[in-house]
Amino acid sequence: MSAPGAVEITAVEKLFSPTSGLGETTLSLEPGSFHSLVGPSGCGKSTLLNIVAGFTSPDTGDVLLDGRPVTAPTPEVGVVFQQYALFPWLSARANVEIALQRLVPGAGLRARRRRRDLALDYLDSVRMADHADSFPAQLSGGMQQRVALARALAAEPALLLMDEPFGALDATTRRHTQELLMRVWGKRRTTVLFVTHDVDEALLLSDTVHVMSPSPGAVVDSHTVHTPRPRDSTRPDSEQTRLRGMILRTIDHSIAQ
Ligand SMILES: Nc1ncnc2c1ncn2[C@@H]1O[C@H](COP(=O)(O)OP(=O)(O)O)[C@@H](O)[C@H]1O
Ligand SMILES: [Mg+2]
Repeated sequence: MSAPGAVEITAVEKLFSPTSGLGETTLSLEPGSFHSLVGPSGCGKSTLLNIVAGFTSPDTGDVLLDGRPVTAPTPEVGVVFQQYALFPWLSARANVEIALQRLVPGAGLRARRRRRDLALDYLDSVRMADHADSFPAQLSGGMQQRVALARALAAEPALLLMDEPFGALDATTRRHTQELLMRVWGKRRTTVLFVTHDVDEALLLSDTVHVMSPSPGAVVDSHTVHTPRPRDSTRPDSEQTRLRGMILRTIDHSIAQ
């Protein structure tokens, strides 16, 4: 069998009014690829992610993950949203352990130990093992997002959806968290669909950047980023600089129309 994580989004549309929502959108994500969606606020990025996550049903069109329709939330699709809170009454470790229930079921000592060890491994991969016993309220926003990422990865999703996950972080924390995401993704190679309004972030992280038009939004342009990894957002190469200009012009142009 080929690697899991092939996503076909076909002619999906969801309108809340004639001028708001998501216009007809078709996207194809190969297994293990990293795609970003950029576009102006309100263009339907979150609506698309909610549809792909199975939280919202589209008016028309469908989403296939490895050939099977996604019509409801499934453990095969992991989400890290900006507002997607951890359980506040559980430690960082327990938040990750919950995600392991499906893959390591059982209430016995052996299963619990296994979940504990795996949770610590996942927390370690996002540099949070030292804070395993902390509760969300004791952690900074960046740390909470790293735990949320560990939790999402622990469920071994075939597809990871991220909706402006670093939007609330300060610039330095954001850069470090982006680097961490790149390292973790480089090892696991889950298919990722990442929403951001930050073009530099999209160019830093993605194999392909899709640009959306406003109200109701639709993908108007897709760019492959050929810059080799690891990339450095503080020192963009000529490819990143060229694409940045093109993408910003596309967005400006579509807003002006
Ligand atoms: N549940 C909803 N009911 C009505 N309108 C909605 C709903 N969700 C989103 N919208 C509208 O659809 C448009 C796209 O929203 P959204 O997908 O959140 O945009 P983005 O994430 O790109 O900023 C916006 O105009 C928003 O107000
Ligand atoms: Mg949004």
